[in-house]
Order: sequence, then C-alpha cells, then structure tokens
Amino acid sequence: MSSAVYAGSFDPITNGHVAIIRSGLVAFDRIIVAVLTNTTKQPLFSVDERVEMIRDALDDDPRVEVDRFDHGLLTDYARGKGVDVILRGLRAAGDFEHELQMANMNRQLGPGIETVFISAGDYFFVSSTLVKEAASLGGDVKGVVPALVEKKLRDKFAR
Ligand code: PNS
Repeated sequence: MSSAVYAGSFDPITNGHVAIIRSGLVAFDRIIVAVLTNTTKQPLFSVDERVEMIRDALDDDPRVEVDRFDHGLLTDYARGKGVDVILRGLRAAGDFEHELQMANMNRQLGPGIETVFISAGDYFFVSSTLVKEAASLGGDVKGVVPALVEKKLRDKFAR
C-alpha cells in the first residue's frame, strides 16, 4: 500500500489543503495528515480543534489518518510511520524556493525519503495566514475554507 505524510500546522485547514489531500489520494492509497503541534507561531486554534476540523473536512475518509506531530524532524516522524514520501502542496511560484530547500534538506536528513509536490490548483491564492487575517477583519471566507472552519473562525472573531 502506498502512503505519504502531509505535515503542516493547519491553523486552520483550508480548501487548498483539502484539494491537495484529495489529489494526493489519486496518487497514494493512504495519506497521514500530521498536525505540527510545536509551531513557532502562536496558533489560533488548539491542536484538538485543528484535528477536529481536518477530520470534519475529509468526512472521516478511511484512507486519511489524522495524527499529531509533536517534535523532532519530519523525516524521523515519516520513518517512524514506515512512510518514505512527504507530500507538499505548491501554490504560486513564490512557494517554490522555500519548498525546494526543504525538500533537499529533508533528503539530506532522511536518505530514502522523497518529497512529492502537488499543485493547489484553483486555491493557489489561499493560505491559513490570509484566511485568519481576513476573518479577523470581518471578511467572508466562505468557499476558501471548509464549513466547520468558517463557523469556528466566525465564533473566534465574533464581536
Ligand atoms: O504548515 P507549514 O508551516 O507549511 O509546515 C511546515 C512543516 C511542518 C512541514 C515544517 O516546519 C517541518 O517539517 N517541521 C518539522 C521539523 C523539521 O523536520 N525541520 C526540517 C525541515 S527541512
């Protein structure tokens, strides 16, 4: 069975992430979505909330495992899961340089583990950071985030 790890802070998951996971499921039998818990940024949502929103967005698809990734290297996490592919999404060209650096660093850190990129397609303009900024200022983020995320953002920023 082919598997890939899709790691990130997912604070919160967006429709861009969902599109990448769904496309990833065309290429892989199973995807482990690993929520990074010790992000250097102060997260808006708790890990439990982020996991709940991911599960809800993917309708508890049995091909998707949602896990937490507490500390250490992503390559070590992947190896521990018996997976040798890291899945990453690419939005615009601006992502490319950083992503290429990470992919090469991860190849150095975890020989035998490869990074596979999938295009975010129509959601090339969506990021968790922009979504939070827009929602905090009263912007309508319907259509760019899953329904539960939209609701939770509304609750967080209710005035
Ligand atoms: O949501 P993000 O910020 O795009 O996720 C970045 C993530 C989690 C993939 C990256 O920060 C990561 O891999 N962190 C784990 C620590 C690690 O392995 N660092 C070396 C990466 S080259």
